[in-house]
Amino acid sequence: MNIDEARHLLHQWVSNPGLRHHMECVAACMGAYADELDPSNRERWMLAGLLHDLDWERHPTQAEHPHVAVAYLREHGVDEEILHAILAHAPYTGTLRDSAMAVHLFAVDELAGFLVACAKVRPDGLATLEPSSVRKKLKNLAFAAAVSREDVATGVAEVGVTEDVHFARCIAAIRALPL
Ligand SMILES: [Fe+2]
Ligand SMILES: [Fe+2]
Repeated sequence: MNIDEARHLLHQWVSNPGLRHHMECVAACMGAYADELDPSNRERWMLAGLLHDLDWERHPTQAEHPHVAVAYLREHGVDEEILHAILAHAPYTGTLRDSAMAVHLFAVDELAGFLVACAKVRPDGLATLEPSSVRKKLKNLAFAAAVSREDVATGVAEVGVTEDVHFARCIAAIRALPL
């Protein structure tokens, strides 16, 4: 499956523009990390991001998400490393984050949501968002309260870069989206 086919699938399964945008954001962050770590597999890293919440709108329960999507994608030829990362982005599946792709998908998922929330309350959106203001907002637990601070911190620790590097990389990736 290539990016265009994945995007076509995403548009079939997901009607919520916010969720579509979230999946594009996560794909962009995955692309940025692939540039750094595994450039020849950039498209596959992006596929994991683009498809990780494919079934969230239709099957939001823990019993089904992301299992329904993984089963469907397996039938449609998506490889096991990508499927493993998609399973592992949901810790309740019990799937270990034991690949670089899985570690980074988990690390960018919650953060991408938080960055979009930060951008929404700024007059110029992401254009001037800095890691320092992201850190400040993370400490304000009332802001974007649904975002797990623990998951963001775990993600940073597992990626093994500083908060500032991780935040800056994801901000730049999402900023570059043509959306
Ligand atoms: Fe998810
Ligand atoms: Fe997600």
